[in-house]
Amino acid sequence: MKLIHLTDLHLVPPGATLFGFDPAERLRKTIERINRDHTDAELCVVTGDLTDEGDFASYELLRDVLRDLRVPTRLLLGNHDSRENFVRAFPGEPRDENGFVQSVHESSAGRLIFLDTLVDGFGHGSLSDNRLEWLLARLAEKPDVPAYLLAHHPLQPIGLPHFEPWNTENWRPVIRSIVAAGNVRHIFHGHVHVDVGGTWSGIPFSASRGVAHQIIPNFSRRDADFVEDAPAFDVALIDDDGVLVHRFEVSDRHVVEISAAGPRPEAAQ
Ligand SMILES: [Fe+2]
Repeated sequence: MKLIHLTDLHLVPPGATLFGFDPAERLRKTIERINRDHTDAELCVVTGDLTDEGDFASYELLRDVLRDLRVPTRLLLGNHDSRENFVRAFPGEPRDENGFVQSVHESSAGRLIFLDTLVDGFGHGSLSDNRLEWLLARLAEKPDVPAYLLAHHPLQPIGLPHFEPWNTENWRPVIRSIVAAGNVRHIFHGHVHVDVGGTWSGIPFSASRGVAHQIIPNFSRRDADFVEDAPAFDVALIDDDGVLVHRFEVSDRHVVEISAAGPRPEAAQ
């Protein structure tokens, strides 16, 4: 199963700019690349910060831009979003029984479980107000089926002081309860605007630097330098044996040589 993971679009209203650039233009270029190379993907998930300020005009713009994407898409919320305006603009996006933008997609490789970590008006994330209970119930109802979590905020640290205050609150007990469920194979998240991946408490995770602005990783400073690098997105190949995450940068590359094909797989063994 091929899964596209986009994150942190930070769209602003038509005609406005963010740090001097146009986030919608960066998204359009990213969509062009996905349409060129990845229309065989089963799903494209955007893990939040769809807009920069949560205004309705930016969600309308997002709706317009996404019309060109030729892969089914699921949208999640980040701390820069407004749940109210998102639901107005995308009334068909599935929500849980408490109104949070949480849902399950039964994919060909297992269950994709989408989480809503937004706390209105704050930068940190949360699974309070029955969101964690909803997740644990989803994990428990099919304990033998592999589950893949997708959320805006990380559920583990990333080693950068800047993001310590902006993680999911109570992430330690949260990740412990997820580990105890026993069927989560990978966590895909956004929020951090850096390329990062690894394993925490035995569960692999990955995040790309995203489509809009990026942050230069710094392991000692609490403030952060925002930069405009090329937009990036991840392509995950998932099957029973594991998860492979490839990172793509939306930039023009110059092919310097075409290498000869290698030996056939059976001959190489
Ligand atoms: Fe963001």
